[in-house]
Amino acid sequence: MRRPVIAGNWKMHKTLAEARALARAVRNGCAESADGAADREVVLAPPFTALAAVAGELEGGAVSLAAQNAHWEDKGAFTGEVSLPMLKDVGCGMVIVGHSERRQYCGETDAVVNRKVLATLKAGMQPIVCIGETLAEREAGRHESVVAEQLAAGLANLTPGGLLRIILAYEPVWAIGTGRTASPEIAQEMHACIRKRLAEGFGTSAGEVRILYGGSVKPDNVDALMRQPDIDGALVGGACLEAESFLRIVRFQP
Ligand code: 13P
Repeated sequence: MRRPVIAGNWKMHKTLAEARALARAVRNGCAESADGAADREVVLAPPFTALAAVAGELEGGAVSLAAQNAHWEDKGAFTGEVSLPMLKDVGCGMVIVGHSERRQYCGETDAVVNRKVLATLKAGMQPIVCIGETLAEREAGRHESVVAEQLAAGLANLTPGGLLRIILAYEPVWAIGTGRTASPEIAQEMHACIRKRLAEGFGTSAGEVRILYGGSVKPDNVDALMRQPDIDGALVGGACLEAESFLRIVRFQP
C-alpha cells in the first residue's frame, strides 16, 4: 500500500508574511477535508528563509515540512549552504534532492545527488529524489536510458532498506513550468519503467517505493494522473503557490 504524497515545491517564492498565510491556509484546508485528505500525505517545501515560520504554522498538524536542498556535510566552511542537522533542527523531516533546476543552474551532478541522498538518510531524514529527461533527450529517444542512469548513479550504494525510505519524483524537464504536462499515459509509462529499474537494482522493495509525478500538475489534470497505477503522488510547482489550487490538488479524486 503506497500512501499518496502531494508535495508543494514553493521554489524561490514567498516572503515571510506570505509564507505564513499560505502554510496556515493549507494546514486548515487539510484539517477540514473530511472528504479525504487523511489517506494522503501533504508536504510543503518553502525556501530556507521561510522554514522556521512555516514550521511554526504546521506544528501539531498533519502537514509535513521539507527543504528544497541541503549540503551533505554536517557543518563547515561552505558559504551559502545549509546542513541537514540545521534543517532537522528547524523541523524538516524531508529534503528535495537533485531537482532539475539545481542540476541545470547549479551544476548538480548525479554524484552530488548521491552524496546528498546518502547523507539525508544518515541524518534520519527522507529525501525526495528528482529525476527526469530534457526535451532534447526525449526527442533523441533517450528518455528511458537517461532516467536509468540518473537512478543508477543517484542511488548508488543505497541498501534495499534505504530505498524504502526515499521518495522518487519523475519530473520531465520539458513539462516543468511550461504548462505542458506529460500525458497520463506517458507519465505512467515512465513510472513503470522507473519501478522496473528499481526492481532490477533492489529487488521486491521497488514495489513499495512511492514515485511522484512533477511537471505542470494542475487542478484540472491531477485526477487523471493519479488514476495511473504507478503514479503515487505529485510534486507541484506553480499550482502550489495559491492555497485554493494546491488544496484542490490535495483533494484529487482518482
Ligand atoms: P511546475 O508545477 O511549475 O511545472 O513545477 C514542477 C516542479 O518543478 C516541482 O518540483
